[in-house]
Amino acid sequence: MQGRKILFGVTGGIAAFKAAQWVRSLVKEEARVTVVMTRAATRFVSELSFAALSGRPVYVEIFSDDPRQVMSHITLAAEADALLIAPATAHTIARLAHGLADDLLTTTVLAAAGKPVVVCPAMNSGMFTHPATQDNLRRLRELGYVVVEPDSGALACGAEGPGRLPEWDVVRETLLSCFAPDDLQNQHILVTAGPTREPIDPARYLSNRSSGKMGYALARTARRRGAQVSLVSGPVALEPPPGVELFRVNTAREMHEQVMRLREQASIIIKAAAVADFRPARSETRKIKKSSGPQAIDLVANVDILAELGRKRRPGQILVGFAAESHDHESEGARKLHDKNLDLIVVNDICGRETGFAADTNQVTLIDKSGRVELPLLSKEQTAERIWDHVVSLLNE
Ligand SMILES: Cc1cc2nc3c(=O)[nH]c(=O)nc-3n(C[C@H](O)[C@H](O)[C@H](O)COP(=O)(O)O)c2cc1C
Repeated sequence: MQGRKILFGVTGGIAAFKAAQWVRSLVKEEARVTVVMTRAATRFVSELSFAALSGRPVYVEIFSDDPRQVMSHITLAAEADALLIAPATAHTIARLAHGLADDLLTTTVLAAAGKPVVVCPAMNSGMFTHPATQDNLRRLRELGYVVVEPDSGALACGAEGPGRLPEWDVVRETLLSCFAPDDLQNQHILVTAGPTREPIDPARYLSNRSSGKMGYALARTARRRGAQVSLVSGPVALEPPPGVELFRVNTAREMHEQVMRLREQASIIIKAAAVADFRPARSETRKIKKSSGPQAIDLVANVDILAELGRKRRPGQILVGFAAESHDHESEGARKLHDKNLDLIVVNDICGRETGFAADTNQVTLIDKSGRVELPLLSKEQTAERIWDHVVSLLNE
């Protein structure tokens, strides 16, 4: 969001107070937010609140005697990178669907022709499901507006049903996808993430320190770039990325089963999960008693999922692996690229302080058959974007 110029339209719905928090979140991410309110919106939240939160003037009236604001609808439209209307009332949706320009917000939206406009309807479910509103929303989509579906649940008016303003994370992703290239559109991507847990008894398991952050960043950014994404995830403490189909698994065997079920329909598979190489030969059905003394645990090897994908891959399918190494990074990476029949391997040093497991940053080397590229220390989301850039170049080859 950094440096993005967002024109934030607020209309007269009960959820207008939530828009205040969203403006704050955008400003925290260093976006430049300019708020335009409808007159009705000012009955719900004051202009002062939005001015304080955005750190910028708030606009309401279309007619002004101030020569600097006499053409606000044109200047505001010209300087915006994207427009977000949240909450969007039934009334404003109807006006936009018919191209009305009877206040500053609707006039500015018309003047911003060609720029992304994200509309977040929020209203009582009767108003939302009314055929007039549904027709208007269909028309907005035809006109190229991005409409974010409202959530269902308890509404401020006491009713239950569709019409709640969605969570910020969903709207933020929608806004970010307006700025992202859609170079992964028409791709079905299978991402794996997180650790696996190999049970010893009902209370204990063997696992590893993978947080899932890298895999989730890959899934999130691929979705932003237009892909259909299936994410097979081991147990992690992360929110599922919006718009991604999530399959939760625990053990390496469950991961293997789920991946094999999904592999054929995927055009790109990227295996960021840290799957346990070994599992206890037997998992006790009853908790092992402390009094039974220290025990040796016999281990057996799990299936190498990546190697199996490499053997079974269909022509044209792109296969990307991760290698978490503590030493001999590049020779190990190059060996796995070849042995496992991969297009690309992402090698990361799990011993660095700012890289590898649990960290929010990563520093990886990408190795493919034509050579290696060392990326700088980046956030995991930036690293994911660079990996996708590389995958897109492989697709274009
Ligand atoms: C207390 C109250 C809450 C309202 N909440 C909503 C709402 O959540 N969604 C909506 O579409 N209209 C809501 N309305 C109706 C709008 O405020 C009304 O249609 C208004 O004309 C919208 O104007 P605007 O679209 O220019 O902001 C509410 C009205 C009142 C009095």
